[in-house]
Amino acid sequence: MDFDKLIKEKWTSLTRKGYAMFENCMMPQKYAELKNEFDKLKVNEEDIWVCTFPKCGTTWTQEMVWLIANNLDFETAKKVNLDQRFPFLEMSTIVDFSDEKSNLPNFQVPDCVVDSLGVIKNLKSPAFIKTHLPIQLFPQEIRNGTKKPKIIYVARDPRDVCVSFYHHSTIIDYFEINFEEYCELFLAGKVLYGSFWDHILPFWEMRHQPNILFIKYEDMKKDLKKVIKQVAEFLGRTFSEQDLERLAKHLSFDSMKNNPAVNKEILVELVKKFYDKKNDGSFLRKGIVGDHKAAMSPEMLRKFDNWIKDNIQGTDYVV
Ligand code: A3P
Repeated sequence: MDFDKLIKEKWTSLTRKGYAMFENCMMPQKYAELKNEFDKLKVNEEDIWVCTFPKCGTTWTQEMVWLIANNLDFETAKKVNLDQRFPFLEMSTIVDFSDEKSNLPNFQVPDCVVDSLGVIKNLKSPAFIKTHLPIQLFPQEIRNGTKKPKIIYVARDPRDVCVSFYHHSTIIDYFEINFEEYCELFLAGKVLYGSFWDHILPFWEMRHQPNILFIKYEDMKKDLKKVIKQVAEFLGRTFSEQDLERLAKHLSFDSMKNNPAVNKEILVELVKKFYDKKNDGSFLRKGIVGDHKAAMSPEMLRKFDNWIKDNIQGTDYVV
């Protein structure tokens, strides 16, 4: 498959200028203008970061972390949009959600303007920061170990990530590509944010550092209260059984899907409007484990199995 041709044809519509590789990570070209600023970002050790490869359960974890760190302030969580409470470091997702849907200012889908940085620089500590950047693009102070904010890293079965990312790409970023083509790009590490393994394995290696907590989407699905307790302990909080129940209920798929503060419905509507598309689809799509089994052909499943085996060889990572 001619990846460069495919990327050029299918992806340039997203950013107009297209994507480029930055230290082995595919990003909108616009990122080049601000890369240095990310590098030099002053980091506060009190801050809490949620870091993931896209579609690993970022939003779910953000809401959990924010509520745990804010003593289960459900009232604010329902009132203030998650993107405002927990800004996205490298992309412009901050819009004024208080405005009417039809009248949202400063929202430019194709440019992926990197203007959250200004907001993040001015946040009061402890700030909550979401990022999909791989470790090699993290601010220098974190990379060289001079600053150690709390980092919660979330991983997910890459096959389910691929299915979820494909849907995300066709709905939220909007570009036309078929699933088979997308799988090939994903396996080759030529999707946004690059290679899944280059992202996840360095954090897996760092998981024992006291400022890092490595969790998995599948464990959240299996026993959410257990993961909540783990995260609460990491953040130095304890909750009663009743509080844990309440939080788990708030974080259930159905509850989040119906919660406008976290379900990104406004964003999806905006993107559809921007591209003048009427496709169905939502951000909180299925929220299940093992979706890839029905989505991928037997041949593609075999390719993924081999790719997983090759990439986890020599590590103790388990999918
Ligand atoms: P699917 O597309 O497989 O449904 P991210 O926030 O990193 O973009 O991840 C989005 C994925 O997490 C989507 O997966 C979404 O449905 C799932 N998700 C979000 N909230 C969830 C929840 N409360 N329970 C289970 N899955 C959730």
